[in-house]
Amino acid sequence: MIDRRLFSLIGEGKKYIFLNVLAQWISLLAGIAMMYAIALTMDALYSGLSGGILGTFALMTVTGAMFVRYLCTRASSRCGFLSSRTVKHVLREKIYDKLVRLGPDRSDDTGTAELLQTASEGVDQLETYYGAYLPQFFYAMLAPLTLFAVLCFVSWKAALVLLIAVPLIPVSIIVVQKWAKKILGSYWDQYTELGDSFLENLQGLTTLKIYQADGERNVRMNEEAEKFRRATMRVLIMQLNSISVMDLTAWGGAAAGIIVALLELKSHAVPIYGCLMIILLSAEFFLPMRQLGSYFHIAMNGMAASDRIFAFLDLEEGKDGTVTEAENHAFEISHLSFSYDGQRQVLKEISAVLSESGMTAVAGESGSGKSTLAGILCGGLKNYEGSAVYGGHEIREWNHDALMKEITYVGSNAYLYKGTVRGNLQMAAPDAEDEELLEALAKVRLNEWLQEQDGLDTQLQEAGSNLSGGQRQRLALARALLHDTPVFIFDEATSNIDAESEAVIMANIRQLAVDRTVILISHRLGNAAEARKILVLEDGCLKESGTHQELLEQNSLYAGMWNAQNTLENYGKDGEA
Ligand SMILES: Nc1ncnc2c1ncn2[C@@H]1O[C@H](COP(=O)(O)OP(=O)(O)OP(=O)(O)O)[C@@H](O)[C@H]1O
Ligand SMILES: [Mg+2]
Repeated sequence: MIDRRLFSLIGEGKKYIFLNVLAQWISLLAGIAMMYAIALTMDALYSGLSGGILGTFALMTVTGAMFVRYLCTRASSRCGFLSSRTVKHVLREKIYDKLVRLGPDRSDDTGTAELLQTASEGVDQLETYYGAYLPQFFYAMLAPLTLFAVLCFVSWKAALVLLIAVPLIPVSIIVVQKWAKKILGSYWDQYTELGDSFLENLQGLTTLKIYQADGERNVRMNEEAEKFRRATMRVLIMQLNSISVMDLTAWGGAAAGIIVALLELKSHAVPIYGCLMIILLSAEFFLPMRQLGSYFHIAMNGMAASDRIFAFLDLEEGKDGTVTEAENHAFEISHLSFSYDGQRQVLKEISAVLSESGMTAVAGESGSGKSTLAGILCGGLKNYEGSAVYGGHEIREWNHDALMKEITYVGSNAYLYKGTVRGNLQMAAPDAEDEELLEALAKVRLNEWLQEQDGLDTQLQEAGSNLSGGQRQRLALARALLHDTPVFIFDEATSNIDAESEAVIMANIRQLAVDRTVILISHRLGNAAEARKILVLEDGCLKESGTHQELLEQNSLYAGMWNAQNTLENYGKDGEA
């Protein structure tokens, strides 16, 4: 009934749970005193005694006890809030740290929506577990024992009957627990699935509209929502049934205790006030357990959510290396192989030297493994076989932060953040003055256009969506240029943009290659032609390497690609001539 791992997370919250139980226990003692005073007074009235002094005493006790109970209830709910707040904070921090440690190359298939739901709502669901369920768990054991200790002086038989009946409630909880776990597991599956498709459909709404596929998606989402509704109903039915069983047990047990007390009264074994106390307090034996049962169902939901949280926290993470200094700025790869799924080899036994400063180009058909190679070289894919050395050290042994100070990777979809242009640029060079930023913008020829806007204070929308594709790429390049590293890797950095932007970007890359190591991946072989060395990949294998001229003379794979591209680009021109 208590999840060991969730319990171990309490840490500082322990003292709040202890105080919570203490407050409830004091409240119980006050309740007992109150019932004692009431029972005594009624006994006296029944026996025809004058109730003057006794009545005043009873009134004072009841008022005092009620005040104490009020304070205790407030203290208990405050402690519940504090303990759950502490644990929620700890859990969210753990999830966030894990995400940061896993980095962008999460190999698991946890969707963004699922992660969001787990970190926000999943963690919220644990509020009841820590704030109410756990303290109630201890209190529900303490309360019947305390009542038993008091009432056995009145009638040990009735007290024993009540005490024995109490464990029937947790037994009924345990019986439904397994069933409940299964139902709640499927409830969370449906819930996160629905969240995932909702987010995906929302993000891709424009595409769905273009292909008029939104209607069909709507139908599918409705089906998923219906499945979720059914899962929710199953949970509610299970909870309601289980609560009915608990109620029957609780009231049945109390009735049994009261019957024993009445029989004892009949045989004059207990006085009237004793019998009254048992009648008034019998329900108190069961109420804490009954309350625990109600909390249990809400807490179970939190526990089901915690399974997901722990599964995420347990994901394997690659160890960070220790190398921080480069001996040179060259790459040496030998017999390098790579597979994403452990089965299909995406790179096969590649060996090459990418020497210091100057441009090396990587060419090959789509899917031949170029981006995968770039991913390995910039330390993103550590699970490779063979050897890939940068600066004299195996790449997987490099400290990630140190490697990022050596290598800048520029892809075709570098992310621009909502905020100012200055903010986006300073990400790469936090200490750069405005002059430096403007210089970088001038290099990519964005300065004039930005002057017409608000200069460095120009606001960008999320993902830079208020810029054109070419402007986005150029801004991303300006940011990369500010990240002044010895190595630059460009992976299709000029794809999908206009000829002018491409020319600007290529001019900058050429300039960089004068004194830095540049690796250029481009479908446009015209851009690769000037490289000192071109590696040509086919289906994960290194088929050819050499200068543009050498490769043309070999008249093989590269030459074929070159001719095909030229024919395509000149198509129509011949006709005009
Ligand atoms: N994250 C991934 N998980 C599994 N397989 C992948 C992943 N990324 C790429 N692949 C596979 O690896 C192979 C090589 O992909 P890669 O992206 O390296 O090709 P590429 O040469 O860069 O292609 P393109 O020119 O189209 O960008 C492809 O067959 C692709 O299906
Ligand atoms: Mg690619």
